Amino acid sequence: MRIARTVAELRRALAPHPARAFVPTMGNLHEGHLSLVRIARAHAPCVVVSIFVNRLQFGPNEDFDRYPRTFEADCAKLAAEGVDVVFAPEERALYPEPQSYIVEPPPIANELEGRFRPRFFHGVATVVLKLFNCVQPQLAVFGKKDYQQLHIVRGMVRQFDLPIEIVSGETVREPDGLAMSSRNSYLSPAERAEAPRLYRLLCSVRSAEDCARAARALSEAGWQVDYVELRRRADLAPPAPGERELVALAAARLGATRLIDNVEL
Ligand code: PAF
Repeated sequence: MRIARTVAELRRALAPHPARAFVPTMGNLHEGHLSLVRIARAHAPCVVVSIFVNRLQFGPNEDFDRYPRTFEADCAKLAAEGVDVVFAPEERALYPEPQSYIVEPPPIANELEGRFRPRFFHGVATVVLKLFNCVQPQLAVFGKKDYQQLHIVRGMVRQFDLPIEIVSGETVREPDGLAMSSRNSYLSPAERAEAPRLYRLLCSVRSAEDCARAARALSEAGWQVDYVELRRRADLAPPAPGERELVALAAARLGATRLIDNVEL
């Protein structure tokens, strides 16, 4: 497994491998990420994984500094999965100058997550476009855990005619239903025991009234709820009556930890 620290090193490592599948990550890898790596593996002879904690997608009061960085352990897991190339640039290798060209995502980026994390998807779309240009994969894999991110990346690829197929991976859950996330490591034992309530409640949502009920139940259990909403899967717009292809999405804070999850109905 080659580890590339600069774009030039990456290009050298990738030169002999024209057919590439790519999994972008921020590291602190768990089974959820590894399931995406296995999907990539099934699609291309060369698998590239990036590890980069992207400052551009963190708000000023968010957890950029304390985001878990576990590079050695991550590399051991990726080597065990047979990953070919890890792209782990220093911040100044990916942003050698202040990034003043920013991808402007569509208005849906200001709803749901974007309402509570202003400009989050500007930062995500910008770094994903840069990573796509560095790696130049034929295919990239994104998890459904970040449902809105997946939607926005798909739209970007379509509207900018990027020659990349986007494949989604199902959310991987702990035995009690909690979606795997790097941020789960912030939870105290008591919070960890409480955390699966988010998924349990999302599974019970069938209507807007159920969303309000779920939000109340979370508040009563001590969560600070950002949103529990039912949206159309195809475009994340609010559904018209009778529509069937829906997804319930939620974000809420348990103590200092903000968790997100979603369930396709
Ligand atoms: O989902 C993530 O881990 C990040 O948002 C991504 C896609 C790696 C961009 O920084």
